[in-house]
Amino acid sequence: MARVLSCIQPTGAVHLGNYLGALREWVKGQHTNDVFHGIVDLHALTITETPGVLGANSLDLGAMLFAVGLDPDVATIFVQSHVVEHSVLGWIMECTVSYGELSRMTQFKDKAAKREADFVSAGLFTYPALQAADILLYDANEVPVGADQHQHIEITRDIAIRFNHRFGDTFVIPKAVTPAEGARVMDLQEPTNKMSKSATSDAGCVYLLDEPAAIVKKFKRAVTDSDSEVFYDRDKKPGVSNLLDILSAATGVKPADLATRYSQYGPLKADTGEAVVEMVRPIQERYAELMADRGELQRLLRKGADKARTVASATLDRAKNAIGFLPY
Ligand code: TRP
Repeated sequence: MARVLSCIQPTGAVHLGNYLGALREWVKGQHTNDVFHGIVDLHALTITETPGVLGANSLDLGAMLFAVGLDPDVATIFVQSHVVEHSVLGWIMECTVSYGELSRMTQFKDKAAKREADFVSAGLFTYPALQAADILLYDANEVPVGADQHQHIEITRDIAIRFNHRFGDTFVIPKAVTPAEGARVMDLQEPTNKMSKSATSDAGCVYLLDEPAAIVKKFKRAVTDSDSEVFYDRDKKPGVSNLLDILSAATGVKPADLATRYSQYGPLKADTGEAVVEMVRPIQERYAELMADRGELQRLLRKGADKARTVASATLDRAKNAIGFLPY
């Protein structure tokens, strides 16, 4: 079994793109690999200034991860700030990466530019060092990430190799793996863009906790393509193909096969909306149950953190010993 780590920031409601693209694959992967999933609140702190939101969002995301089917007895689900080793190794990583390397991170440049007049924290700049700590603490062999994260995995490898060279063999060198192919879900209003909560309007983004009526409405209003034929072709028919992909993800039928069943956009939109409502219904029910018993939910997250700490503290000890800090 490979040790697999992937993390998600608690920065707001989970949408269909997160679920079909990633979370549903995490659920499938939990029985074939030894999986660790961090709710990375320390990463979210790089762009958070309001009291209370990190804790609330972490609890919410924890409930969502269990609601979609991650099993606390199988997968290790933990909140990053509960495992103090992340902060400690994060600092060590900051001292193992260079200013120049961090300056080349395209995600930092993009995020910093987008924040314009907003506060750009030093944490936003050193973010990849903390991410390296997340990965290396768990001796992760594989990190399933999308293309936007490849540079961060590359820098993690560079840091690990440098550390091992300086202080002796300590860290497992991880590799980025292409996540098991989940559906690539596009914005319903701008089907050439990925579904994202940062889109200009909410109309194109379906949240897992949206009311059924809201889901149906978002699909009814989905942007389709200029002619009126239904066939599957991502380039020529981005809007229709997105609907077919979503319907396919919800029903297990191939998009091209589904296309043959429709001659008009209206019924395709209606059926896709209904199929998504049915798909998220059990998730919404489990989410509500979990949120109704906050004590139990926190117990599940503590259990994950305790499991995570056992692994993380052993790795941190190895790193500290390799460096040769004065023992306590
Ligand atoms: N940077 C990742 C993102 O924005 C989140 C993340 C933090 C992560 N630590 C990680 C992903 C470790 C994989 C492994 O999506």
